Amino acid sequence: MNGDFLFKQVYDYVLNRIELNEWKEDDKLPSIRNLAADMKVHRLTVLKAYQLLKQENRIYAKDKSGYFVQSSDNSKYDNQDIPMISAYVQKNHLSEIHKVPVSYQFSQALIDPNLLPNRYISDYVKKVFDLYPKVLSTYSTVQGDEELRQSLSGYFNRQYKMFTNPDHLLITTGSQQAIHLIAQAFVKARDTILLERPSYSSAIDMFRAIGANIITVDIHPYGYDLEQIEHLMKKHKPRLFYLNPTFHNPTGYTVPPAQRKQLVQLAEQYRCLLIEDDAYSDIYFDEEPPTPIYTYDTSGMVIYIKSFCKYISPGLRIAVMMNGHESVRKSLFTVKSLADNGSPLLNQKIFLHYFSSSRLQQHVEKLRIALQIRKEIMEKELSAANWQWTSPNGGLNLWVQLPDHLSTEDLLTKAIDQSISFVPGQICDPLKQPSSWLRLSYSFANEEQISKGIRKFINLVQRDGSHASEA
Ligand SMILES: Cc1ncc(COP(=O)(O)O)c(C=O)c1O
Repeated sequence: MNGDFLFKQVYDYVLNRIELNEWKEDDKLPSIRNLAADMKVHRLTVLKAYQLLKQENRIYAKDKSGYFVQSSDNSKYDNQDIPMISAYVQKNHLSEIHKVPVSYQFSQALIDPNLLPNRYISDYVKKVFDLYPKVLSTYSTVQGDEELRQSLSGYFNRQYKMFTNPDHLLITTGSQQAIHLIAQAFVKARDTILLERPSYSSAIDMFRAIGANIITVDIHPYGYDLEQIEHLMKKHKPRLFYLNPTFHNPTGYTVPPAQRKQLVQLAEQYRCLLIEDDAYSDIYFDEEPPTPIYTYDTSGMVIYIKSFCKYISPGLRIAVMMNGHESVRKSLFTVKSLADNGSPLLNQKIFLHYFSSSRLQQHVEKLRIALQIRKEIMEKELSAANWQWTSPNGGLNLWVQLPDHLSTEDLLTKAIDQSISFVPGQICDPLKQPSSWLRLSYSFANEEQISKGIRKFINLVQRDGSHASEA
């Protein structure tokens, strides 16, 4: 049996007993030895689960006496009054951070609404109601509006020579939904999957929620270690590898073309689906990124997801999923029909008319310049501190390493007190290890906020760092 899965089982078991109030404040938990024997797992697995629960303030340890349930004042438990619900509440760590209003917003990988084409899109809203007076009285097809799929397949053929056709496309409500549908369609509890380390945190949360056994693949500024991937595919026979190879979130790294081709060969050889999440490739600065991994696929091993939310309209929630294999598509259409019977038609039509207009190109060109300026301002301010990062050629984030002894998770509370937010590295780590890395988004705050906020942040970290090293 698999270690990660067993660990999650023990962790969930203990947490559920606490949240169901079966084990109350200051109750002693079963000893590691007894729980390991009851659950037929290794003692280290129980120890690991207890350590994580302790880190999350759900339990505490007393010297030589064992582990005890933490009092609820210190716990982050939201639904004390409805235990049956709270026991199964899923946490989305990123949305918890975004909930806090701050003046220096560096945690959201969202584009400043002032940089998006609000006025032009609203022109198309009026046009759509004139063209399709019954648009709100009609369902979309499950697969998505045919006119939109035709326009998108024409775009992909021109842009990337993908030679796809409208039947290969499925319109989804954001790429978040696309990942969710894939997880529902292809992954069951205990199935092994590969995730990049670090990775997009909501994808981690989704696959964890299903109970997948997650194995990690390191991503570096130069891409992957393909030998590592081949070894993992051979040994673990994963169902899929979810990856974000172009201006990767959170690191901004891009996987080079030669590796893209070889990755498809490995996926074919080991029958592992590649889930290529491409939310950022249009946001490049000096040069265009390599073409998607999907362009190397000839046998339907790649499911390509392209979101238009970030740089056109987060509110319309339009993304598209593509695959060349009929049986893969059928499974996805089924889960999509169960999820919502098709994305809202109005949004698809508004998007279609804006997307097919010449305004799109003008908008994207201006947007790239505005974001590059913000990135450069953030980098210039950061250069005052002795921190490490690889400057990305696109995307919305800097992935920054602070001195080793600092935990960015601990730093977050202090930063939020100063009205600054960022994403601590641990949230992006499928293994949830403490980390001295953090993600700073330069796309939401304006130039002035970036300058002021980063200076304030550097002061905070340097003050905090000197206290930590004195301690
Ligand atoms: C890599 C990646 N995938 C998917 C999403 C979800 O985007 P949306 O659902 O808005 O398309 C995000 C958003 O931050 C992301 O960074």
